[in-house]
Amino acid sequence: MIFYFTGTGNSLAAARAIAAEGEQIINITEAAEKGAYTYEVKKGESVGFVYPEYCGSVCRPLVDFIARLTLKNAKYVYAVITCAGGKAMSAGYLAHLLAEREIPLSVWFPVLMPNNCLIYFPTQDDDKAAEILRESEAQLAQIKAELGKKALRDPGKWRKAAFFQNVVKMMGATKLFRVTDKCTGCGKCAKNCPDKAIQMHGNRPVWVKKRCAKCTACINRCPAQAIEHGRGSAQRHRYVHPDLK
Ligand SMILES: Cc1cc2nc3c(=O)[nH]c(=O)nc-3n(C[C@H](O)[C@H](O)[C@H](O)COP(=O)(O)O)c2cc1C
Ligand code: SF4
Ligand code: SF4
Repeated sequence: MIFYFTGTGNSLAAARAIAAEGEQIINITEAAEKGAYTYEVKKGESVGFVYPEYCGSVCRPLVDFIARLTLKNAKYVYAVITCAGGKAMSAGYLAHLLAEREIPLSVWFPVLMPNNCLIYFPTQDDDKAAEILRESEAQLAQIKAELGKKALRDPGKWRKAAFFQNVVKMMGATKLFRVTDKCTGCGKCAKNCPDKAIQMHGNRPVWVKKRCAKCTACINRCPAQAIEHGRGSAQRHRYVHPDLK
C-alpha cells in the first residue's frame, strides 16, 4: 500500500515506479475528500509514503493526512521523498508525525527530481528535466530493490524540519498569485488544485483561501501559462511530469 501526494506528478511517478504489481496506490487528497483515514495492512505487506519535500519539511497535505491516519498492523513502513536538491531533510519529522499515530518509519530515501518550485527558484528547461527524470528512474529501481530486501535507515532528528513547517505555512499565502489576460477560462487550475483553493468566478480563477499547500499545480499546469506568482515566475519555465501532461 502506497500513499502519495503530488502537485506536478513527480511523486506519483515515483510511487508507480516502486509499486509492486497490483499494489494499491492511494492519492491522499482523494482519500481525505472521502474521509478514508483507516487502513488495515495485510501480513507481510509494506506501507509507503511518497511525497515532495517542501522547505526542508513534509508537505502540509501529508502532515494533515497523517494527523488523522490509523494504520492497523503496519510493520515495515518507508518514505520516498522527491526533491529538487537531492538531499531530503524531512524524514525525521515524518517519523515523528507517524510515531504520534503509533506507526513506525523503517527506512527512507530521497530522490532527485526536477524542480517544480518556480514560485521561488529557477526551474530546469525540458532537456535538463528529462535528463534528471532518466537518472531518477535508475535511482527508483535501486530503491525498489532495497525495499525488497527490507532495508532499514534511521530517520534522524526531527526538530529542524518541524521548525521549517512554519516556513511551509508562511509561504502558503495565496495573495501572490495573479491571472493574466492569457487565461482562456478553461477551469483546469480549479480542477487540479488539491486544496480546493481556487474557484471559477465568471470564467476567471479566484483564490478563495488565504493559504494553500503551494503545490504549484495551478501555475505549472495552466495550459495557457496565464498564472504568475510574485515577481519571479514570468521568466521561469513551467514544469509538469510527462505522465500528467
Ligand atoms: C513550495 C515548494 C517548496 C519546495 N522545497 C523544496 C526543498 O526544500 N528542497 C528540495 O529539494 N526541493 C523542494 N521543492 C521541490 C519539490 O520537492 C520537487 O520538485 C518535487 O519532486 C515535486 O514533486 P511533485 O511533482 O510530486 O509535486 C519544493 C517545491 C515546492 C513547490
Ligand atoms: S488553467 Fe489557466 S487558462 Fe485555465 S482557467 Fe486557470 S488560469 Fe485560466
Ligand atoms: S492554489 Fe495552486 S499552489 Fe495552491 S494548492 Fe491549489 S494548485 Fe496548489
